[in-house]
Amino acid sequence: MIEITPNLNKNHKDPLYIQLYEYIKKEIETGRIPPGTRLPSIRKLSSYLRVSRNTVDTAYQQMMAEGYIESRPRSGLFVTELDDDFPVSQHKEYTSFDEYREYGPTAMEYTYDFRHGSIDQDSFPTTLWRRLTNQVCNGKDIYSYGERQGEIELRIELAKYLYQSRGVSCSPEQMIIGGGIQQLLGLLCLMIGLDGQSVAVENPGYDGAREIFAHYGFQVEPIEVNKNGLCLPQLYQSDCRLAYVTPSHQFPLGYTMPISKRMKLLQWAEKVNGFIIEDDYDSEFRYKGKPIPALKGIDSFDRVVYLGTFSKSLLPSIRISYMVLPEALLKKYKRFFYMYEQAVSKIHQLTLLLFMQQGHWQKHIHKMRKIYEKKHEVLRKAIKQHMGENVNVVGEDSGLHIIIEVKREETEESLIAAAKNVGVKVYSASKFWVNQKQNKNPQLLLGFGGLSEEEIDCGIQSLSNAWF
Ligand SMILES: Cc1ncc(COP(=O)(O)O)c(C=O)c1O
Repeated sequence: MIEITPNLNKNHKDPLYIQLYEYIKKEIETGRIPPGTRLPSIRKLSSYLRVSRNTVDTAYQQMMAEGYIESRPRSGLFVTELDDDFPVSQHKEYTSFDEYREYGPTAMEYTYDFRHGSIDQDSFPTTLWRRLTNQVCNGKDIYSYGERQGEIELRIELAKYLYQSRGVSCSPEQMIIGGGIQQLLGLLCLMIGLDGQSVAVENPGYDGAREIFAHYGFQVEPIEVNKNGLCLPQLYQSDCRLAYVTPSHQFPLGYTMPISKRMKLLQWAEKVNGFIIEDDYDSEFRYKGKPIPALKGIDSFDRVVYLGTFSKSLLPSIRISYMVLPEALLKKYKRFFYMYEQAVSKIHQLTLLLFMQQGHWQKHIHKMRKIYEKKHEVLRKAIKQHMGENVNVVGEDSGLHIIIEVKREETEESLIAAAKNVGVKVYSASKFWVNQKQNKNPQLLLGFGGLSEEEIDCGIQSLSNAWF
């Protein structure tokens, strides 16, 4: 009899027949029980394993139903012959997920992680959020699907907020809630349609957006960015009718597009009968002067698709973003995409709604602006004090990150490696350029939202020791 010796456990959460079935299946899949092998009879195996005949019979039945074994008349049960070129899956036990983790704790290796996208952990109102989530869960609304475009009350609150804080006048009907800006861009790509379209993107720009356009079959046309934003002559030279921009805080360089250029950009869209996608990802945090109204706020031609997110202003893990559509695209959405179910949890949407309706959102933004402003100031001072003339700071008046240009004849990789040696994690800015251009001077991106003021100062000091 072939050897079948599973470690069956009566106290295991799975019944014995499942444990036996899983064991034999794995033995077959990994080739340890080869095709054509005759399996022991039910009687023999049950007495060998000291389990009931019923247990073995049920396990065999399940394997027969899935085609792993077959019954040959008057001969018994045999392992089915599989195609030779059918790949045999090698089962791998994962004891640690760390090597696969992209986000999450890096505390083991790094003392200071200047990760872009991290937020201030101590300021999130966890107790309040839990209470509001409980309130939602105690209600009746959670037992049904949500509205496809996103909860209407939340869209009403968002439309009010956009008008007050970003100068965007829109109806909740024009708004679609989605699980992140990339997901909304994917939907937008479907709405705009392919037709051999090209999309103009800022260079450097948000690589996460570029990838989406490319995956949806768009030709991606990099357009240079200067201190005023996108280079318009290049845009006019391209055959694009669609442009993706971050006018209030250019990602990653941090520039703000002046009003004159915004007007010209809108005129371009009208002229080519196209659309502008405005990604307003972190405009809540501006530290000098007044907040700059969104491009959508002056969009008299109705050519701008506005995108906003709660990832920087509230919590990246909540995965709630929103998109305001121009009339022409709203029609397409209603006609062709309305059957798409909403992907963002209704529970989180309703919790956010209570958070906004009860006035906590305004207070939170106000509080976070002060906290990040302070951190931003500490960062700038630390750079000046510890690095002085050795670096240039690029785009520094808003958001949760800055770029430093290091005046050294070194690659970004070598600076990153030197930083790692002193326990500091910094990020290359090259990946934001199409074709991963190496800058004349190495440029590194420093996100400061997730570090305390003290950590920011110590981190910069360590970097300076490592580099200069
Ligand atoms: C320019 C830009 N837009 C959007 C996002 C992500 O937004 P969301 O979390 O809503 O997908 C990021 C994240 O870093 C970003 O840099």
